[in-house]
Amino acid sequence: MQIIHTVAELRNALKSQTSVALVPTMGNLHAGHIHLATLAKQQAQCVVVSIFVNPLQFGANEDLASYPRTLDADCEKLKAAGVDIVFAPNVQEMYPNFNAATNDLGQTMIISAPPIAKELCGASRPGHFDGVATVVMKLFNIVMPQVAVFGKKDFQQLFIIRELVRQFNLPIAIIAGDTIREASGLAMSSRNGYLSQEQKTNAATLNTCLKQIVDSIYQGNTDFIGLEQAAAQNLNSNGWLTDYISIRSARTLSPASKEDTALVVLAAAKIGNTRLIDNIEFTRI
Ligand code: PAF
Repeated sequence: MQIIHTVAELRNALKSQTSVALVPTMGNLHAGHIHLATLAKQQAQCVVVSIFVNPLQFGANEDLASYPRTLDADCEKLKAAGVDIVFAPNVQEMYPNFNAATNDLGQTMIISAPPIAKELCGASRPGHFDGVATVVMKLFNIVMPQVAVFGKKDFQQLFIIRELVRQFNLPIAIIAGDTIREASGLAMSSRNGYLSQEQKTNAATLNTCLKQIVDSIYQGNTDFIGLEQAAAQNLNSNGWLTDYISIRSARTLSPASKEDTALVVLAAAKIGNTRLIDNIEFTRI
């Protein structure tokens, strides 16, 4: 497995490759990421995993500085998973016009994500999806993969990346990997490492709440707003600070109507200082 830090070296390493799959990550890898790398391996001869903590997708009061950077351990896991290339650029390499010391964008060009990016996670993380779309577009242009793999845990991100590919006519197939969970139901996330043992036990209630909503809809409940409010109250009374719980069309991500059958229930909530997200996609018959 090659570990590459510059665009020029990466382009050189990929020169003779005709079948490339990309898995973009921010590192601190867990079983969910390894699942994505395994899916990528089934799609292409050469698998590139990028590891880059993207400053453009973090808000001023978020965890950019403390986000775990664990390159050596990550590379061990990726080597064991049969990954061919790790691309781990620094901020200067990715954003030559960005001043990392002052967090000043300077003349950096940024993609403006569509209005749906201002809802759900985007409502409390302004600019987050502009930052995601920008880095993903850059990675696509650098690696030029035929396939790229993203996790379904970040459902809104996946939706926006599919739109990026569609609206910018990129010849890249997007593959979605299922969320990998702890035995408790807690979705694996790089941010789970911030949780104390007690918080981790409690964190599984986020998934339980979503499952209860899905069950209730299966039983014929169409009072979506009532369900969202009751679930938020339930979480808040269990020590969470709910950001949103929202039942949406899985096709358009707009608020679900009674006629929609392809649905997704999404949530974001804080436990202590840690913000976690989860979702369940399901079909109403
Ligand atoms: O999902 C992530 O880890 C990041 O948002 C991504 C897609 C690697 C872009 O920085």
